[in-house]
Parts: sequence; structure tokens; C-alpha cells
Amino acid sequence: MKQPVEPKHVNRLINHGPTVLVSAEHAGRRNVMAAAWSMPVEFVPPRVAVVLDKTTYTRELVLASGRFALNVPCRAVMDLAYSVGSVSGRDAAVQGEDKFQRYGIAAFAGSSLGLPLVEGCVAWLECRLISEPHAQAAYDTFFGEVVGAWADDRVFQAGRWSFRADNTELHTVHHLGGGAFALPAIGSEQARQLPARNEAA
Ligand SMILES: Cc1cc2nc3c(=O)[nH]c(=O)nc-3n(C[C@H](O)[C@H](O)[C@H](O)COP(=O)(O)O)c2cc1C
Repeated sequence: MKQPVEPKHVNRLINHGPTVLVSAEHAGRRNVMAAAWSMPVEFVPPRVAVVLDKTTYTRELVLASGRFALNVPCRAVMDLAYSVGSVSGRDAAVQGEDKFQRYGIAAFAGSSLGLPLVEGCVAWLECRLISEPHAQAAYDTFFGEVVGAWADDRVFQAGRWSFRADNTELHTVHHLGGGAFALPAIGSEQARQLPARNEAA
């Protein structure tokens, strides 16, 4: 079900702007938050950018560990995505638990960096932080090099998303703002497939 994604296709996991869950771990502390603002910034080696506000506990763990993961949630876990984007792990930590425990989120360890990855998502990217102190401080933007990526082959096959009527629970979710979400159009991939101009794009 979870299949490795070739480096040249990793950008496609978030090219269409899905909301992601950013997970991180440092010295036995782990956390996860929602982020609407993430994007690919290089094909190969695959690199990504994500905005982590200064107030977030996730940012603290990313800076301390030099690692983060992007988990791509789907319709089936949409509520969970909204929950972890509405509460800080710092508050949960005060009560002796983390957000995984508080919301009953099952996690598995990524095989590249050992980061906590969220079960029920449809794609996972483990990233090494690329240190860019100015971008981090001035724009809250964190760059990462993706060192391992996987996708659920029920909805991502041969380097492409396949959003169909028979797998709607696995469709990615897209934040419109203000707590409203959109889902990809069913069959859009097949209906509007243009001839590829190059292998990577
Ligand atoms: C749908 C959604 C999208 C969000 N996108 C971002 C984002 O791109 N960057 C960010 O810093 N916070 C974003 N947030 C807010 C964080 O997820 C929120 O502040 C979270 O509680 C931080 O958790 P933490 O303190 O445990 O790290 C988003 C929240 C939601 C619900």
C-alpha cells in the first residue's frame, strides 16, 4: 500500500497545493501541525518549502532537530488535520501528553529519518532542514531536502495522483481559508492530461 516515490516524482505529491501535516521530533518530544502553505521548490534533488509560524511548537522541534516531515492527509482524516491545526502541542505537553496521544493519532517511524509519520495519510515526505536563517527569521519559511518519500498506491500510482469516484476518501484536501476545504475534481487527471513536455514536470 505504501510505495516509495521516485525522487523525480516527489514534487507531484504536493504540486497541487494540498494541506499538509508537518511532523517533527526531538529528544523524545514529538508533534504535528497543519500547514496550508507548503510547496515544491526543486525537482531533483527534491526540495520543499513550508511556512512555520514563530509561535508554533513544531518550529521549535524542527530547529532543534534539523528534520521535519510533510504528511499529506486525505478526506478520511480531514477532521484530524483541522484539530492538529487548531491546538498547540505546547498546551498538550503541559498536560503530560502530545497531540498524537490527545487525538489518538497512530504514527509510524519513517524509514529514512525515523520521524513520526501519520497513519491514514496518503503521502509522506521525510526532509532534512536546509538551514536558511534569514528566510526562517524574516519569512517563517523553512526549506527541506526530501530524503525519503512514499505514497498510498490506491491513489498515487506510477508517479501520478489518481483521484477517482471509487477512492474519494483518499482524496487530498485543500484549504480555502477560514476552515473551508475543497477536494480535487474527480477524474481531472484523466480528463485534462496534456502531453508531457519533459520527464520531470
Ligand atoms: C488548515 C490549516 C492550515 C494551516 N496552515 C498553516 C501554515 O501554513 N503555517 C503555519 O505556521 N500555521 C498554519 N496553521 C496553524 C497551525 O497549524 C497552528 O498554529 C497549530 O496549532 C500549531 O501547532 P503547534 O504549536 O503544536 O506546532 C494552519 C492551521 C490550519 C487549521
